[in-house]
Amino acid sequence: MTHPIAEPLRREVAATRRRWLVTGAAGFIGSHLVEHLLGLGQEVVSLDNFATGYARNLDEVRAAVGEEAWRRHAFIEGDIVDPAACRRACAGVEVVLHQAALGSVPRSIEQPLVTHAANATGFLNMLVAARDAGARRFVYAASSSTYGDHPGLPKVEDRIGAPLSPYAVTKYLNELYADVFGRCYGTSAIGLRYFNVFGARQDPEGAYAAVIPRWVRALLRGEQVAIYGDGETSRDFCYVGNAVQANLRAALAADPAASNQVYNVAVGERTTLNGLYATLRRLMPDVDAPAAVHGEFRAGDVRHSQADIGKAARLLGFAPTHDLAAGLAEALPWYVARFAPEPARA
Ligand SMILES: NC(=O)c1ccc[n+]([C@@H]2O[C@H](COP(=O)([O-])OP(=O)(O)OC[C@H]3O[C@@H](n4cnc5c(N)ncnc54)[C@H](O)[C@@H]3O)[C@@H](O)[C@H]2O)c1
Repeated sequence: MTHPIAEPLRREVAATRRRWLVTGAAGFIGSHLVEHLLGLGQEVVSLDNFATGYARNLDEVRAAVGEEAWRRHAFIEGDIVDPAACRRACAGVEVVLHQAALGSVPRSIEQPLVTHAANATGFLNMLVAARDAGARRFVYAASSSTYGDHPGLPKVEDRIGAPLSPYAVTKYLNELYADVFGRCYGTSAIGLRYFNVFGARQDPEGAYAAVIPRWVRALLRGEQVAIYGDGETSRDFCYVGNAVQANLRAALAADPAASNQVYNVAVGERTTLNGLYATLRRLMPDVDAPAAVHGEFRAGDVRHSQADIGKAARLLGFAPTHDLAAGLAEALPWYVARFAPEPARA
């Protein structure tokens, strides 16, 4: 299997022991960041309020990295809506990887205030706390939803449309605040516009689950998958290892031109939902589930999404190691271990 972090980058991170803060560490992407950083000899403070994350994700990280590495990790249970929690978490930290937020477009349509509190107020609290603590770099999870209704494909960073959901508004607000902090206070932030990240530990539970974990779990249970709309909606699915790589590169980027910018983080390919379904069936030949059905289109969804990753390649040296099929092949054993009926696990 290809390691998502190439050897030169691993060496560069490992060469200096830094103190990092990962927010949203009990979540999907955050837990992978903590795992990689500890594996590279780093000191990690992490923060989460378990709104959508799980203690078991951190238990898995602990099991993966071992007790010696785990001793370099300190967890704070706290809410980024509380400025004091943000200050505590940022103390003495050199690099912040800010992932904590409430994801999901439909959740934001149903609960705009809750989404705004975590994603907008919480973000600003973190930005202020990182500035006041003198953090050298603030890397944050932006989103491809910022492209909104702009029809251009592939998506290029400086061409965005009107947001299609409250979630997209909050993520765009993050970019505006990060940019203006650079101008007003000389801080250095880098926004990573993730495109449909997937991998082990992405939550398949609940109404707001992302498509890949939802479908994988359904198939493993022999259940029928419902595809929104005609299935020709397309996405640039990005394996979590690629997202970790982008975070590390953004954290270390020394070129001043790379700072206070936003970057697409994806593979640069486009897969329709029908294509995703076909790939999953191919990768899971033993699954016995009825053929998929098509349902209604979902409100707030962008029709097509595909990233131009040229800017991240140029300024950060980002080069995805995993396409959709390679990422799924790495992620599937985790889902099988967790959700397949007993005989299939053997
Ligand atoms: N997964 C994707 O495809 C994707 C795409 C674009 C952007 N993003 C962004 O990436 C980040 C990580 O997403 P994820 O997929 O890992 O989601 P996740 O829900 O698994 O992780 C988010 C974590 O943040 C925590 N959190 C939420 N509100 C908090 C608060 N007020 N205080 C402290 N912690 C809080 C949650 O408990 C959770 O552990 C988010 O900012 C999300 O908006 C994700």
